[in-house]
Amino acid sequence: MAGPTLAVVGATGAVGTVMCELLSSRRNVWGEIRLVASARSAGKTIMCRGEELTVQALAPEVFDGVDVAMFDVPDEVSAEWAPVATARGAVVVDNSGAFRMDKDVPLVVPEINPEQVRNRPKGIIANANCTTLGMIVAVAPLHREFGLRELVLASYQAVSGAGQVGVDTLHDQLAKIAGDRVLGSRPGNVRQAVGDDLGPFPAPLALNVVPWAGSLKDAGWSSEELKLRNESRKILGLPDLKVSATCVRVPVVTGHSVAVHAVFGTEVDAEGAREALRNAPGVILVDDPAAGEFPMPIDAVGTDPSWVGRLRRSMDDPRALDLFVTGDNLRKGAALNTAQIAELLAAELS
Ligand SMILES: NC(=O)c1ccc[n+]([C@@H]2O[C@H](COP(=O)([O-])OP(=O)(O)OC[C@H]3O[C@@H](n4cnc5c(N)ncnc54)[C@H](OP(=O)(O)O)[C@@H]3O)[C@@H](O)[C@H]2O)c1
Repeated sequence: MAGPTLAVVGATGAVGTVMCELLSSRRNVWGEIRLVASARSAGKTIMCRGEELTVQALAPEVFDGVDVAMFDVPDEVSAEWAPVATARGAVVVDNSGAFRMDKDVPLVVPEINPEQVRNRPKGIIANANCTTLGMIVAVAPLHREFGLRELVLASYQAVSGAGQVGVDTLHDQLAKIAGDRVLGSRPGNVRQAVGDDLGPFPAPLALNVVPWAGSLKDAGWSSEELKLRNESRKILGLPDLKVSATCVRVPVVTGHSVAVHAVFGTEVDAEGAREALRNAPGVILVDDPAAGEFPMPIDAVGTDPSWVGRLRRSMDDPRALDLFVTGDNLRKGAALNTAQIAELLAAELS
């Protein structure tokens, strides 16, 4: 088959599953496609690009002859195996957090810094985390227009951001509480109904919001909050950008949202900002509150762009805008951005 050979490592996971859907629906630039996962999944078959492909267990030989390897696996698996893939000649596009802040690994969002794809001394290109990606696609055109100085962010993150186990946990909890109209009106009664199986979350998600995502880092910040800060700075090339984030997990299956307060170097006007967003790649403006039109996960799920709305100029600071952004964390937040980077590589390698 003509075209570069692609390996998808982690093809059986939440991101890998969407990747197979994207490979079936996007322009076909690939020759052979190899699906790889853990030994647990070896031998399973998955439909991808109209072919029934058999999943192979991760091993050094699966990378022989591979041009591009997408990694949709946990951090520690990427950290160990991405160098194995590059040693065998593949360029790696990694979706995990293992390499994002490595100074020799570019953090690429094709709508913002596609030229960085060629700057890959380790043969590895990193994909940003899902919350940063959806938000930054909307903020970058505003930065180009007005010059960004500061971001104050609150995220509303879906359970699929924690992988397939996160989705299963929410559905199991919803099944346990279904129909009980008393739940949520007394302290502890949701905890009691849900039981001990909290999956990857520190508290029940059903009928709740949890102001925590990731692991505990210095001074009370969570790892997800630090990712928003550090990755935004790296992608925009603004090492001194001020970023404060509060990450919150909500009972949504797929679709991360972020409430953004952005402060710029010049005065802003809401109509100019809307115009910049209308012309921006990867963004759809959904901003008609009078008609009940807002960006929401139930509409954004399964779509490619970042949905942006509720755009207002601050009442107190003429240099600041408030807006709400929603995007599919498994598409632009993960698989789609990886596919776009890999397609830039395919064009370079063909
Ligand atoms: N979910 C999101 O919104 C999102 C967004 C951006 C980035 N990411 C990142 O993308 C990566 C994958 O996330 P996910 O949500 O898809 O996770 P997931 O649903 O838990 O899937 C994990 C995948 O990794 C495979 N895997 C696990 N351990 C392995 C091993 N030792 N050797 C080979 N394969 C192994 C699994 O294979 P088996 O099925 O065989 O176990 C599965 O295919 C993570 O680094 C995550 O942080 C996720």
